[in-house]
Amino acid sequence: MTHVASSEQVRVRVPGKINLALRVGALAPDGYHPLISIFQAVSIYDEVTVTPIRRGRVTAEVSGPQASRVPTDGRNLAVKAARHLAEHLEQVPTGVHIAIRKEIPVAGGMAGGSADAAATLLACSTLWQTGLTIHDLAQLAATLGSDVPFPLVGGIAVGTGRGDKLVPALSRGVYHWVLALSDGELSTPAVYRRFDALGAVNEPLDVPAELMNGLAAGDPVQVGRHLANDLQAAAVDMQPQLRRVLDAGAERGALGALVSGSGPTVAFLTADEETAIDLSVALSGEGVCRAVRRASGPVPGARVIG
Ligand code: C5P
Repeated sequence: MTHVASSEQVRVRVPGKINLALRVGALAPDGYHPLISIFQAVSIYDEVTVTPIRRGRVTAEVSGPQASRVPTDGRNLAVKAARHLAEHLEQVPTGVHIAIRKEIPVAGGMAGGSADAAATLLACSTLWQTGLTIHDLAQLAATLGSDVPFPLVGGIAVGTGRGDKLVPALSRGVYHWVLALSDGELSTPAVYRRFDALGAVNEPLDVPAELMNGLAAGDPVQVGRHLANDLQAAAVDMQPQLRRVLDAGAERGALGALVSGSGPTVAFLTADEETAIDLSVALSGEGVCRAVRRASGPVPGARVIG
């Protein structure tokens, strides 16, 4: 882990994620669902800058598209992350001001809030010179939320448990995505509740072998064919217009399509960058979503960039 010997600000860049596969088991007594999740970090980034301020204080500001939809008080997961790390340390560190520059869609199923929390852990750990490793930070991250550890490691990983226990996966090649961003947001707990109500549990939970083979071979056609999300039916049930978005991409040559995580962002895998450009132009003209973005993956996890 990089350490800057400084009481100045620390800036961290952190990627969003797509779940290439999300297999969801039946609700457990602890209120969570056992998962198998194949995460890929993709090239849409938030930037988190922490600046030391008066001891005991943690403040936040958010800029970028959709910034007004993100709370800056104690409900913000990044604020919780800074407090959580401070409590974990033997000596009381400085306070911090957290400036978040958001590009990852808010409440879009790409773990934007979790990415900001992960970046804040790394930035504060660097600022406070804690000496904690990425592994230590990932353990703290898991207590903040199931999706918080992954942005620290990035790349491609298999998540089990609540999705927080990670093992890196073998993957070759670059995957080109087109992302259809939705007007609405979907609350993750609400999507899980709808999943429960629909009663479509797919057990036993297995690591999706065809998908993993496709990734290991660097074969986007095979990967596209085996993209799968058990939460998709629940997300589409809650936002039926997502069906039109999924169909529009399939009709225009995507190798595969799925709702990312709990949605409502829809991700289309394409054969190469050129096809991704064509598809993004076609989808923009279609008027079925709020905005279209391109991204590629896998990319590395959170990094100190200044
Ligand atoms: O872990 P996190 O706080 O991000 O989870 C948000 C909510 O999503 C949980 O309160 C739970 O309702 C649901 N969830 C779940 N099973 C998981 C992960 C999340 O039911 N494995």
